[in-house]
Amino acid sequence: MSAFKLTEHVTGYTFGEPVDTGIILGEKTYGDHVLPVKVEVRDGHGIISFALTKYDRVFGLGPNLGGINKRGRQYESYCTDDPLHHEDKTTLYGAHNFFILEDDDVATGFFIDFPSRIRYDVGFTEMDAFGIDIHGEDFTLYIIEGDSLKDIVVNFHEIIGKPYMPPKWGLGFFQSRWGYETENDIREVYETFRKEDIPLDGIYLDLDYMEDFKDFSLSEDRFPNFETLVRDLKADGVRLIPIIDAGVKMEEGYDVYDEGIAGDHFVKDESGKPYVAAVWPGKVHFPDFLKESTRAWFGDKYRFLTDLGIEGVWNDMNEPAIFYDETSLSEGIEAAIAAKGENLGVMPFFSLRDKFQNIGNKDEYYRRFYHEIDGKRYTNEEVHNLYGFNMTVSASEGLRKHLGKRHVLISRASSIGMHRYSGIWTGDNSSWWSHLDLNVKMLPALNMSGFYYVGADTGGFGGNASGELLTRWMQFSIFTPLLRNHSAIGCAFQEPYAFGEKVTDYNRQLIKARYSILPYLYSEMLKSHEDGSMMFTPLSFEFFGEEALQAEDQLLLGEELMIAPVVKSNARGRYVYLPEDMVLVSFKEEDVKMWTAKAGVTYLPYGLDDLKFFLRRNRMMPYIAPGRSVKDLSMKSMNIIGYVETEAVYTLYDDDGTSYGFEDGKVYKTEFHARREEDGEIQIRVTNDNPNIEKVIFTLMDGDENSITKEVQV
Ligand code: GLC
Repeated sequence: MSAFKLTEHVTGYTFGEPVDTGIILGEKTYGDHVLPVKVEVRDGHGIISFALTKYDRVFGLGPNLGGINKRGRQYESYCTDDPLHHEDKTTLYGAHNFFILEDDDVATGFFIDFPSRIRYDVGFTEMDAFGIDIHGEDFTLYIIEGDSLKDIVVNFHEIIGKPYMPPKWGLGFFQSRWGYETENDIREVYETFRKEDIPLDGIYLDLDYMEDFKDFSLSEDRFPNFETLVRDLKADGVRLIPIIDAGVKMEEGYDVYDEGIAGDHFVKDESGKPYVAAVWPGKVHFPDFLKESTRAWFGDKYRFLTDLGIEGVWNDMNEPAIFYDETSLSEGIEAAIAAKGENLGVMPFFSLRDKFQNIGNKDEYYRRFYHEIDGKRYTNEEVHNLYGFNMTVSASEGLRKHLGKRHVLISRASSIGMHRYSGIWTGDNSSWWSHLDLNVKMLPALNMSGFYYVGADTGGFGGNASGELLTRWMQFSIFTPLLRNHSAIGCAFQEPYAFGEKVTDYNRQLIKARYSILPYLYSEMLKSHEDGSMMFTPLSFEFFGEEALQAEDQLLLGEELMIAPVVKSNARGRYVYLPEDMVLVSFKEEDVKMWTAKAGVTYLPYGLDDLKFFLRRNRMMPYIAPGRSVKDLSMKSMNIIGYVETEAVYTLYDDDGTSYGFEDGKVYKTEFHARREEDGEIQIRVTNDNPNIEKVIFTLMDGDENSITKEVQV
């Protein structure tokens, strides 16, 4: 083992000869450092074990099932396409090996830099033991220190680099569905949004737009005037965002396939031939995204889309998902032929059935194809979690090169490190109340891993959503930077207007509220980009005590808000834990109301007909009038609402919304300052360098149901 310092707060311990994953940035200074945890390397595995006291907590592990405190479950880090996220699943689409272990005195952060499978047993098999099983002997363990949980996250973010920042329109409302089959379907969706007066910034295009599921192709039949469609909608602030899958259809004469073969870009099997798997297009080859030349080649292909006016893409099936491979399918077919005419007993029948039923994403597939890194050959399994990550690096670099301005990019598979290149959606959830609850709990762990542009398929991907579920989900997703309603082909339609007039009214109102608070969300993203702080924080990261720990369905947003969504059916409200006095805010039909809410556990009446959240003591937040699309939003007249007992400051970050100027600090910062004098009078000061803001209307509460309104020209 060799040990090194990366920063004052981060020490790394390297075992064996790990693959360079490219996740961690920074210079290493080698020296003598004592490993503070027990790590054993034996039989091809790295084993880390911790004893847990009953008070210890574990946070992080990215996109996983379970609560905010990860105790009591098993998890696996291995990017997997498994569309049914039942209770007992251990792995989803991402592999994020960052977690914090906290007892009542100390918290320590851990990151395991290893690209293959890691299993975590967090007090599941034995309540007082936390075991980690790394499936390999070559890895680096990073130990991250800090003064608080939030500080540890900031110190971790310092070594993984800054997150991807979408353009401002990326925070608008997006409609999506697998099964908007034609150009007319897309126009109809767009027109209905406009007719129903529901704001919209983009429509996602699923497989339907492609010819035979081929990447970088267009169906001439279904989308005969694609470029005009893109142009027309964009002129009205609505972008189209097409899907790109990892697998390239095997078809001679198809340019991407031919170039891939000619340029030696596809992953190979044992015999050195391109590996054959099957995904949506039938048989495919997978580009070897771990090779720089392949990343550059595939990244350039996105030009096909940018030339048509496209400014955003989603990368899918990049775990990579495999429906079957040739070997397993042949085995299944042979077994079926052999069984023909036999009187099958139930066990042989189950065995035959399993050959087909469990044919997708088998572990052995990932041992049947190889990548080459620095002249060394690895099975995909050995470097599995780098695949989707590097597909997204390829897309990001291609899009950046060809657009010259910011783009929207989300990926399904993810590893830490990919956060520098794109956002993520949390994959194929279902229209279940439990998945809304999961969405809330997953969010802070995604921020911990460096991902800020995140969101779930609002309303649920699989299964049928009810109007009630969609509206409740929306009341939460309104706060997530990526806000996309997406559903699967064959399920009931779930557009915001698909459930009758009443639900349409609720959803319109919520989406308008989203556009009103968009400057705040955008500002918080820019801030997190600057200082590495989390946007969504568990209450227990800020407040002590059992109540804060238990309130896992409430989150702090920025330094200003606390959100407490309703995640249960038939509820007219919910119990909320307020760790301090706050102000309850309601957005309804462009009307904003505020009431004082006292610390403690309180019942919050919360119907479907408004958006409710809490504003913390001595904090303020901005909002503006909503618009049809982000491009129509104006900050000329800005409102500030606040709960100012003594003094509050809010700094609004903003920029041009499209350029990369923010990377060089080209960010507007407007400081709103309010101070309450002894006699109750409010002194207001605004320091502004943002030319888009002209007038600010402050409405400030004092904690006793009194509010003062003041207007300031800036
Ligand atoms: C995958 C994606 C889903 C998409 C579907 C068809 O299941 O996760 O979002 O709609 O493929 O492309």
